[in-house]
Amino acid sequence: MKQMKTKRWQLHGLVSPDHPFIREAGALLLQGELIAFPTETVYGLGAIADSGEAVQKIFNVKGRPADNPLIVHLAEIETVATVAEDIPEEAWVLLETFAPGPLTIILKGKSVLSPLVTAGLPSVAVRIPAHPVARSLIASVKKPVAAPSANRSGRPSPTRAEHVLQDLDGRIAGILDAGPTGYGVESTVLDMTVFPYTILRPGAVTLSDLQGALGEGRVRLHRSFDFAPTVQEPERDEAKDTEDTVPRAPGMKYRHYAPDVPLTLWLFNGKTLDSGSYDVRTYLMRLKAAFQTMVAEGVRISFLAYEEDLPILKAALGDTFKTLHVLNVGRRSHPEEVARSLYDVLRSLDPEVTDRAMMLGLREEGLGLAIMNRLRKAASEVIA
Ligand code: TXA
Ligand code: MG
Repeated sequence: MKQMKTKRWQLHGLVSPDHPFIREAGALLLQGELIAFPTETVYGLGAIADSGEAVQKIFNVKGRPADNPLIVHLAEIETVATVAEDIPEEAWVLLETFAPGPLTIILKGKSVLSPLVTAGLPSVAVRIPAHPVARSLIASVKKPVAAPSANRSGRPSPTRAEHVLQDLDGRIAGILDAGPTGYGVESTVLDMTVFPYTILRPGAVTLSDLQGALGEGRVRLHRSFDFAPTVQEPERDEAKDTEDTVPRAPGMKYRHYAPDVPLTLWLFNGKTLDSGSYDVRTYLMRLKAAFQTMVAEGVRISFLAYEEDLPILKAALGDTFKTLHVLNVGRRSHPEEVARSLYDVLRSLDPEVTDRAMMLGLREEGLGLAIMNRLRKAASEVIA
């Protein structure tokens, strides 16, 4: 259902708040329209944060549940105090260290924004993006901009303008297109309204980065990341939820990043395949058997592979390897490559040509934790 013509402004080179495309997009934002824009993580879908009418449009076009709050994007660190209060000293330390950049902090909110932004919560999520287009756009409107990732709810986040248009063409006023985004996974979300400060969503700013800035005992991962990595996560038993295990970011409870083809994630404890150890050989035999069974049933498999694994898999799987549709996700040893390509690869999975996607796990630490967090949500099956 197309309702409007979505404008696409292509930006190259230097940008500033005075750039004609930024001014045009900013004027539309101020009129209450939605504008998609690149950040250094993924593309965001912006609305002026003090306009309930504009913010409501975000929920409508994304099909986003109303209880999932939005991140408020600001251009300058100093303006954090305009949307939040009781800001701990350590929040300023983190902002000085990591902003602008891929970190979102949850603080006590001030009631200056539309209550739709925070889904009625007393807290507010704040982020100062580093992308010059994002910063110029926010600076040009001189107001906070509420922006979730610019995908339809449940789909992988957009890392290219094309992804945004796949999901939202005809439903938003415009998109500022500055090519693919840098990190490829969304910002780290840190709740600073609790102590120890708690990571609700892992991202490029890692646990050890945050502990390095504030001290080890002062930052932790949310308990939902305490899974034994080799064990399939059990279905959550609501009756057994304690305050600590209930997801604190409302977004944590929804299915996310789902590709159009079912994805199986093989954890193998995040181990690499290059050791030639007994473990690895046994694992490769299990993989081969699983692939052979599926191939015999006519299942068309897309294999999302790390570059270093390709020769090993080729040797271990033999003829079965030739039947796989192999998609390179970058090097295991360079998780930033995997993060950058992940959503693009997930979005490229086409049910017309493939029935099942397979991917091996990474070690769940550093940026690998962020990647695996997204993969666990994207997967319909997780195998130890
Ligand atoms: O990198 C990013 O963060 C991107 C770019 C566009 O900035 N944005 C993004 O927004 O990923 P979104 O809406 O897709 O994810 C925001 C997450 C959700 O999980 C939401 O539940 C959580 O932040 N969140 C927002 N406000 C919150 C609050 N007050 N308390 C707890 N969680 C909050
Ligand atoms: Mg999102």
